[in-house]
Amino acid sequence: MTAERGRFIVMEGLDGSGKTTQLVRLAKHLRERGRKVYLTAEPTVSTTGGMLRDALGGVTRKTPCELAAMFVLDRIFHNVNPVNGINKMLGSGYDVICDRYYYSSLAYQGSETDFEWVRAMNINCPEIRRPDLCIFLDLDPEICMKRIGSDRTTTEIYEKKETLERVRARYMDIFAQLDDNVIVIDTAPDIDSVAAEVCRAADEICRD
Ligand code: TYD
Repeated sequence: MTAERGRFIVMEGLDGSGKTTQLVRLAKHLRERGRKVYLTAEPTVSTTGGMLRDALGGVTRKTPCELAAMFVLDRIFHNVNPVNGINKMLGSGYDVICDRYYYSSLAYQGSETDFEWVRAMNINCPEIRRPDLCIFLDLDPEICMKRIGSDRTTTEIYEKKETLERVRARYMDIFAQLDDNVIVIDTAPDIDSVAAEVCRAADEICRD
């Protein structure tokens, strides 16, 4: 008997919006419901993913076009990797929860270079799957910056208030123009009520 295909859920948000906490909470919730869950993230652990992390941390310098192309390459690998790629895991009956996906490329690289080019590379690529659900954790860039400041030891290249404001606006444009299933959740309330909303949104598409 073949397992029923899992659901593909993407978590997006500005740096410091609390994605990691909510990802873990959502995975726990779905597992408690008896579902199989696979947590993953972009950039991935591929060679390209490693190069991306170096560039994001400021260790190496890359142009916005180089970054955009590298993210696409990493994302294709993420989909098709035969060991534990997104397609493989969904096909084995796992719900895949992914920390960032093409929305990040459209929002971050799309703010710094030709947006239509970045959009086309991602959206028109036959080997980049469309998620079943995207959950955007919305938080005022000013609060994001405060959280980044207190939590992190390294500053990544996008972690500036003006950049985050531009990126947030871009996210909102993208959600309005793409025909994807997206829910925007305000993360200003406490962690538990945000988690409840995140789980409710996932339950809508993860029916047994
Ligand atoms: P991440 O590891 O999720 O860090 P954080 O916990 O701060 O959100 O993401 C690292 C950075 O990668 C983040 O600044 C956004 C950036 N990024 C892009 O610019 N484009 C992309 O396509 C992806 C997936 C991430």
